[in-house]
Amino acid sequence: MSSIKAKAVMYSSYGDPSSVINIHNYNIDLTNLKSDEIIMQTLASPINPSDINQIQGVYPSKPPLTTELGTSEPSAVAGNEGLFKVIAIGNQVSKFQIGDWCIPSGANFGTWRTHAISNESNLIKLPNDSKLSLNQAATITVNPSSAYQMLTYYIDLKPGDWFIQNGGNSQVGKAAIQIGKKLGLNSISIVRNRPDLDVLKNELYELGATKVITEDENSDKEFGKVIKEWTKGKPIKLGLNSIGGSNLTNMARKLGHDAMLLTYGGMSMKPVSLPTSLFIFKNLTAKGFWVTENIKRIPGSREDTINKLLQFIEDGDFKDVVNFEIDLNLNELTDDDLLNAFKKGLKDSSKGKQIVKFT
Ligand SMILES: NC(=O)c1ccc[n+]([C@@H]2O[C@H](COP(=O)([O-])OP(=O)(O)OC[C@H]3O[C@@H](n4cnc5c(N)ncnc54)[C@H](OP(=O)(O)O)[C@@H]3O)[C@@H](O)[C@H]2O)c1
Repeated sequence: MSSIKAKAVMYSSYGDPSSVINIHNYNIDLTNLKSDEIIMQTLASPINPSDINQIQGVYPSKPPLTTELGTSEPSAVAGNEGLFKVIAIGNQVSKFQIGDWCIPSGANFGTWRTHAISNESNLIKLPNDSKLSLNQAATITVNPSSAYQMLTYYIDLKPGDWFIQNGGNSQVGKAAIQIGKKLGLNSISIVRNRPDLDVLKNELYELGATKVITEDENSDKEFGKVIKEWTKGKPIKLGLNSIGGSNLTNMARKLGHDAMLLTYGGMSMKPVSLPTSLFIFKNLTAKGFWVTENIKRIPGSREDTINKLLQFIEDGDFKDVVNFEIDLNLNELTDDDLLNAFKKGLKDSSKGKQIVKFT
């Protein structure tokens, strides 16, 4: 075989993701491989809120639109996170062997595609063994990495300390619960009410949540007393916000003196609104968190974070969480199959994390 027929999910203009994505076919020439290049087959491509925002054109970090892959109009491959398997290597490649698993080391890689070619320096190798599941490997760079950095980079939390978060049911939230438990921290996770609340609560308690409360409880002034009983008067030192609006305002009121509030998402599309008194009388510090910026700002932080998470997985302390999987068979894949899989994933992403898998 002298070339590979690859397919990519691309966009040439910004807008509603399902309307602007299209499939582009291109060849990867195996005879022309540079000495430090690697050819990979995609194993899994998650669909994250940031991927959606990027295609909408409202995300600050965007890949350039180019004609590099032979598109008639300048375009970009969608997707930032993904797991690949090495299928060919240049003769000077030192870190990778055929069959290895790898992930992009930076953002804007364009992971929604069947195959990719990359310089080895832009890739991180992951262990290809039974302890690390395909799901965990495919999703390690965004959500668990964010949770780990928020819990460890901003404030010195000691075992026994408390943190509170909204979006407790999100992938970041579930990762924060697990990492918090591993670090000996106590967590309060706020979730939206739902008919099967007990099922969700049990899932989060099994992951290691200390307490799970609903938005309604979070908004009830009297409930603050219950929380004080749980914490035995210890201040809640860190708040993680991915929702905004009144959910956040009510969560911030639970924070103790000198606490840190990190905002990393705005799922309610409502602004971050904080009581003045928290700043004046409780010395609150409120900051934004963006993993994409952190990995640029703090050299080595992506690798360090991933190594820590891999150790947690190796120790058996970081469980695989349920995702919605869309399976595609690479051997029989048509353009429509690929397009429809991502359109379905985009449509269903409000129901939970969607991962397109290629076998
Ligand atoms: N800044 C960063 O570096 C960074 C990194 C990773 C993720 N993020 C952000 O973190 C957020 C979560 O990402 P994810 O991938 O973990 O998401 P996810 O697994 O898809 O979960 C989304 C969560 O948002 C909740 N939600 C959605 N709309 C809501 C609303 N109107 N009010 C209250 N809750 C609402 C959902 O609650 P239900 O379960 O009740 O539907 C669910 O818990 C996103 O905003 C994402 O962009 C930011």
